[in-house]
Amino acid sequence: MTDKEEAEDATRSAPSRLGRPPDERLPGPKTSVCSRSYFVVVMVFFHVYIINVIALLLYVHYSSGQEDARPGPPRDAPSSDKQNPQPPRQPSKAPLPRDIFLPRIEGIRVGHVQKVTLVPGKVHEMRTLSLKPLLFEIPGFLSEDECRIVMQLAQLKGLMESQLMVQDGQEELAKELNLSPEEIFNLLDINRDGQLQLHEILTHSRVRDGIWLTPENLQEIYAGLKADKDGNGLLNLEEFRLLSADAFQRFLLQRGVKRSQLVRNSRHTWLYQGKGAHQVLQDIKTRVTRLTRLPTTLVDLSEPLQVVRYEEGGHYHAHHDSGPFYPETACTHTRLAANASTPFETSCRYITVLFYLNSVDGGGETAFPVADNRTFDEVSLIQNDVDLMDTRRNCDKSNLRVKPTKGKAVFWYNYLSDGRGWVGEQDEYALHGGCVVTHGTKWVANKWINIDPDYQRQARYEQLVSHQAEDEDDEDLILNSNIHQEL
Ligand code: OGA
Ligand code: CA
Ligand code: FE2
Repeated sequence: MTDKEEAEDATRSAPSRLGRPPDERLPGPKTSVCSRSYFVVVMVFFHVYIINVIALLLYVHYSSGQEDARPGPPRDAPSSDKQNPQPPRQPSKAPLPRDIFLPRIEGIRVGHVQKVTLVPGKVHEMRTLSLKPLLFEIPGFLSEDECRIVMQLAQLKGLMESQLMVQDGQEELAKELNLSPEEIFNLLDINRDGQLQLHEILTHSRVRDGIWLTPENLQEIYAGLKADKDGNGLLNLEEFRLLSADAFQRFLLQRGVKRSQLVRNSRHTWLYQGKGAHQVLQDIKTRVTRLTRLPTTLVDLSEPLQVVRYEEGGHYHAHHDSGPFYPETACTHTRLAANASTPFETSCRYITVLFYLNSVDGGGETAFPVADNRTFDEVSLIQNDVDLMDTRRNCDKSNLRVKPTKGKAVFWYNYLSDGRGWVGEQDEYALHGGCVVTHGTKWVANKWINIDPDYQRQARYEQLVSHQAEDEDDEDLILNSNIHQEL
């Protein structure tokens, strides 16, 4: 069919589609005028289309030309590559040039295996376990001897309780903010129905005092305190108002809190990895640097190695290793370079490398409850009957569980990329915990790589410590005394 015939066919069939009777059709000569104008319209559209395509091609050509012209480091390049300067950033108070592009290892797809050389003459296989968070495992990352030595060094140093019974500070924060019961009630009432459901209270209580409450505990507390007068399992504002701020905590402490009711039940210690440390500890640090492809300075300035021991019955409920990042948040590790008035402080751990130092007889998996979920919904994490963050009860419902096997390492990114080669937002999917150990003991070690999402602050901090190191000519001494005072 020609264009003309097609056009004529279109005019013929259109009225009948509209349900007009055939006798209302336009007479013969008008049909040809119509089809001619239809043809013109089609041609005009056709030309506009061609012009659009050409314009698009020109746009793509010129914009990619600019991309090419702008220097940027290759993927996975060492981030200290000074030959690839980034374009100047928006001016703040004398911004430091941003010449670092943090590499991020590509996951490709779940199950993808890539070979990596971390120690001379040996090839390790690195398998992608999830993309959200970006998570990998490397069997045999540590040798048997290395595992044994790390456990022995930790034991020699002595391990302390990972969580004390009551955490201070949060009460003070509440007092400082001077919140009324109504304000607290409104903060907690996430679904805004004027009632506090069990899960709304649970989230609050865990954050506040570190005691891990189950829905049953809460009902027991309501009964003990006669808090839920109408007995419907919900607290309205009146019922909430009658409870004093620390009623839950006092009730639990009077009744006695078992270790198993805390957020974590383990012991830990820290092992320094700088100059003069045991060779095995230094080797592990070098290997982590190679694994993550990050600049040596960043790894050197990070926290020491944390060694953790869980006894039978030990656990660590689901948590983030790093806090969320807001403009008013300061990172613990860069506080030297932070504005003194910054109200919030959190640990900024870009990467977690977790090593299994022994194979556990029963339980003790590392669980990632929402790994590779299609969406992240904080509220649905705690439903009345299933609390996905509870690693004593619900590890079997986690999307992903990693079995502790001696020498294996897993590592993941706790933050997304900002799209410009630096640290971006916290990755909510990086939520994880240690399942309850049902048989035997579990030993793990954590190597956290600290990077401040505020590039300027990280850069200022690095400048500060390097100057101090020059002045005193003993870098490690300074790093050790200044960075991690809470350890
Ligand atoms: C941690 C942690 C998981 C585990 O120590 O921060 O999440 O399996 N550990 O022990
Ligand atoms: Ca509610
Ligand atoms: Fe953790």
